[in-house]
Amino acid sequence: MKNLFEEVRIGDVTLKNRLGMAPMTRSRALPDGTPGELAAEYYGQRASFGLIISEGTQPSDDGQGYLNTPGIYTPSHIEGWKKITSRVHNEGGRIFIQLMHAGRVSHPDNTPHHRQAVAPSAIAPGVEMFTAEGMKDIPTPRELGQNEIKEVIQEFRTAAAAAIEAGADGVEIHGANGYLIQQFISENSNHRTDLYGGSIENRARFAIEVTKAVIDEIGADKTGIRFSPQGTLNGIMEGESGNDAYRYLIGELNKLGLAYLHIMNFGNEPFLQEIRQLWTHPLLVNRPGRSLDNLSVDLDNGVADVVTVGVWALANPDFIERLKQNAHLNEVDQNTLYGGDEKGYTDYPFLNQ
Ligand SMILES: Cc1cc2nc3c(=O)[nH]c(=O)nc-3n(C[C@H](O)[C@H](O)[C@H](O)COP(=O)(O)O)c2cc1C
Repeated sequence: MKNLFEEVRIGDVTLKNRLGMAPMTRSRALPDGTPGELAAEYYGQRASFGLIISEGTQPSDDGQGYLNTPGIYTPSHIEGWKKITSRVHNEGGRIFIQLMHAGRVSHPDNTPHHRQAVAPSAIAPGVEMFTAEGMKDIPTPRELGQNEIKEVIQEFRTAAAAAIEAGADGVEIHGANGYLIQQFISENSNHRTDLYGGSIENRARFAIEVTKAVIDEIGADKTGIRFSPQGTLNGIMEGESGNDAYRYLIGELNKLGLAYLHIMNFGNEPFLQEIRQLWTHPLLVNRPGRSLDNLSVDLDNGVADVVTVGVWALANPDFIERLKQNAHLNEVDQNTLYGGDEKGYTDYPFLNQ
C-alpha cells in the first residue's frame, strides 16, 4: 500500500491521499431536493478521504430518479450544499458533486412534477424501482426531441455553475450505471436515427456536448466524468463491442483536459489497461467488490491515480485511519442504505468510540 497515503493533484486541487469516497445515493434529502440536515455531518465525518464524490444529484426535476435524492438547481439546494461543502472544507477534505440525470430510470411517483420520464428512446429499462408505495415497474419513458436535448445540456451547465456557487471543488458528470448519459451511449437503449443515435460518434455526442457545456461553465480542471463500460445496471447491454464506443469517447474527452476520468471496472483488465493508455489525465478506479488486499494494486501498477471505495466509506467514516492502523472495519447495514434518519448514516462508530 505504498502509494495510498501520498498526495495527488486532481484538476486544480491537491488531494491529501489517493483514496476517494465513491458516489453513493442515500435518499435522505428533503422533499424539495434540499440536502437533509444530517448531510453535512455525514460528509464531514468522511473528510479524511482525499476526495469525496457526492451522491448523485439531479440537475432538474426531470433528472430525478429515486426518492428523496438531492438536487442542485434551486437557491434552497445551493444553500443546503453550502453547509456540506463548508463542513468538508473545515475538516480538511475536498468534495465534487456528482451530477446525475436518471433519464428513463425514474418513476413519476418519485419526481416533484410526477411527469413521464425522458430518455433517448421510448424504451423501458425493464427493472423495478422503489417508490413511497413500494417496488413498482418503471414505465416506458418519452423520447427527447432534439431541442429538448439542448435544454438538458443547459440543465447540466447551470447545475455545474450552482455546484461551484455552493462551494464544491468540482463536479463529476455521471455517465455510468445506466442513467441518461449511458442510455445515449448504449445501443440497446438508444434507437434514435438523428444526430444522437446510430453510429458511435452519434451515440457519444450527448456525453461530449454535456461535458463541453460543463467545462465552458466551470472549467475543465473542475470537471470529472464517470463511466461503467460493460456495466449491466438498469437494463444496459453493451457487451465487448460496446467498448468501441468508450474507446472513441475517452479519446475525444482526453483532448478536453478534464480533472479526471472515473472508471467502474468489472474485471476487464486488458480494457482498463487500454483506457490507461488512452487517458493521459488522472484516472480514478473503482472495483465493485474489491478485496482489501487489492486496494492499492491499481496504484502500484500505475493504472490508477486514485482508488475509490463505496460501501467501506459508507460504513467507516474513519476508513483512512483504520487502514493506517490495520484496524477492523465496521460491517455495512444493508437495511439503512436508502432513506431514514441517522441510523446507518451518521452513527457508524469511529475507532475510538
Ligand atoms: C448505497 C449505494 C448508492 C450508490 N449510489 C451511486 C450514485 O449515486 N452514483 C454512482 O455513480 N454510483 C453509485 N453507487 C455505486 C458506487 O459508487 C460504487 O461504484 C459501488 O458501490 C462499488 O464500489 P464498492 O464495492 O467499493 O462499494 C452506489 C452504491 C451504493 C452501495
